[in-house]
Amino acid sequence: MHVTKIQQFQNKIFTYYAQKKRDLPWRKTTDPYSILVSEVMLQQTQVDRVIKYYTEWITTWPTINDLAKASRSEVLKKWLGLGYNSRAIRLHELAQKVSQQYQGDIIKALSQEKLPGIGPYTQHAIEIFSLNKEGVTVDTNIRRILMHEFNLSSTISDKDLETLAWQCLPKGKSRDWHNALMDYGATFLTAHKTGIKPKTTQSTFEGSDRQMRAQIVRYLLTKRKTLSYASLTHITKGISQERRAKILQKMIEEGILTQKKDKYMIKE
Ligand code: ADE
Repeated sequence: MHVTKIQQFQNKIFTYYAQKKRDLPWRKTTDPYSILVSEVMLQQTQVDRVIKYYTEWITTWPTINDLAKASRSEVLKKWLGLGYNSRAIRLHELAQKVSQQYQGDIIKALSQEKLPGIGPYTQHAIEIFSLNKEGVTVDTNIRRILMHEFNLSSTISDKDLETLAWQCLPKGKSRDWHNALMDYGATFLTAHKTGIKPKTTQSTFEGSDRQMRAQIVRYLLTKRKTLSYASLTHITKGISQERRAKILQKMIEEGILTQKKDKYMIKE
């Protein structure tokens, strides 16, 4: 890519950022644990909804060792309403692992092994936002900006996008650059404005297995500690026995629920 084109692009993004920078709580810290929590929450949830959850979470468990000591139910309760609650379970498992095996050092753990719930995108985001590490991460917003800015075809591979992202990265400024891109994508160059569709979209929640799962977890955290098959039938009305049994089976396999005799409960 032409150097001046890239410089113009960087100038445009940084000029926008200088004027319209969002004041987000996870930008006030470089603590890897806080950044990790924000990134996991932001994986599938919008910024506006994450802010309150993030702030409460960090107040309740200010360090990874605090989170490691919490119970599964406490963790899921704090997550209630954010959705995709297996994210919370994996984050808790990660905290226990990093606390026990790495003295709470997330950066070291990340460099040595694959951690629960952390794909390459999240790993790079943590390194960029906490260490200002020279690196790139291409989320939905950044992908859309690059596609629009450089007139790319929707068939472009992730690898080619990543190469381009590296070419655009201003040296020594990876933290600011990624914050600036995310702001530009979220508040200016929106999907609506560009017509560029994300690679993946969330499935409809209403009437989905995801909704049934959320109802079961919510019941067990806020109403009763155990659930009989009869109450299960009641809270998941209108679906077939077969589908209900499958949902339940899957939740047991994933380690969210456990069964004792004819009762189901959150697995601690
Ligand atoms: N989406 C994913 N990570 C983000 C961040 N750090 N700031 C804003 N939006 C994000």
